[in-house]
Amino acid sequence: MSDVSTEAAAPESTSFDAAQRRSRQIEAELLTDAGKYRMLTGDRPTGRLHIGHYFGSLANRVRLQDLGVDSWILVADYQVITDREGVGPIRERVLSLLVDYLAVGLDPARSTIFTHSAVPALNQLMLPFLSLVTDAELRRNPTVKSELAASQRPMSGLMLTYPVHQAADILFCKADVVPVGKDQLPHLEQTRVVARRFGETYAPVFPQPDALLSEATNILGTDGVKMSKSRNNSIEIGMTADATARLIKRAVTDSDRHITYDPEQRPEVANLLLLASLCTDRSPQSWADEIGDGGSGRLKAVVTEAVNATFAPIRARRAELEADPGYLVEVLAAGNARANEVADATLDEVRAAMGMVYDLA
Ligand code: TRP
Repeated sequence: MSDVSTEAAAPESTSFDAAQRRSRQIEAELLTDAGKYRMLTGDRPTGRLHIGHYFGSLANRVRLQDLGVDSWILVADYQVITDREGVGPIRERVLSLLVDYLAVGLDPARSTIFTHSAVPALNQLMLPFLSLVTDAELRRNPTVKSELAASQRPMSGLMLTYPVHQAADILFCKADVVPVGKDQLPHLEQTRVVARRFGETYAPVFPQPDALLSEATNILGTDGVKMSKSRNNSIEIGMTADATARLIKRAVTDSDRHITYDPEQRPEVANLLLLASLCTDRSPQSWADEIGDGGSGRLKAVVTEAVNATFAPIRARRAELEADPGYLVEVLAAGNARANEVADATLDEVRAAMGMVYDLA
């Protein structure tokens, strides 16, 4: 591992530019040749998904699935404890995440949906992978740093090694594309390093996955601050139309009655216009022009109607799925079986490459 310090010293912008270039190339190729790619992504089951998750990532996953990308979606249950104590009401949260996935259009016939804790061989990859990274490179990983700061807890071994566990998530099924926001790039870079070093040290078992960089659709909560459960400012995918209306009614705006789209000077109003825009395929500016002197009352009415219309079919599907827990359990069982098959095969390959398949007879 003599190259550990040099590769980490590469200026961040260079690797970002390179990642962006590769991401654009792959996006272009997906239009004609999606079937040759395998994507992996996922979420930690820590609470209910909100419409920021929908526009920021879920809708994109469905798009990739529908293009024909072989899609793997991880419910990262073991990773709940990276930044908190205990897994919480885990069964309920795993099922609620699954309901959201299915309701927005992820299709278990085309997307393998599975949970970490049901796939032992995936987790076992953590061991050889940990041997390929240094504590220094983990400590300077910007994503680890910001996740640590957000958690307001001391650094745990699991938090420090979070990027290595994610490498196991991605590499166990040899995914070659990972849809991420810019903030998660350092994690993906760590996965690429692990894949490459495994190849240099043993044998080339793993591809180096590329990021599919999504445009940041930064939707704020109804108080103009990042959506978060503790602030009670999130429009959840699974909320009722009435609860949505109440939340939007309380939304913070400003004292200027005339509605304009000005993200710099009027972030709260701009955020509501953005929401209306995302739900209707019209620009925020055109909504602002139309609402004009209608003021924040009219603005909120527009947003409420747009959000509720967009999510009505998803919410109806959600209700059907919630009424059928047997089906949900079946979907996960099938996904977990498929993930186990692939993880077992990869672990066999890894152990063979390491020369540690031996016989004591
Ligand atoms: N860390 C991601 C999150 O915050 C979830 C995740 C776990 C993930 N493993 C992954 C995402 C692998 C992409 C690839 O929510």
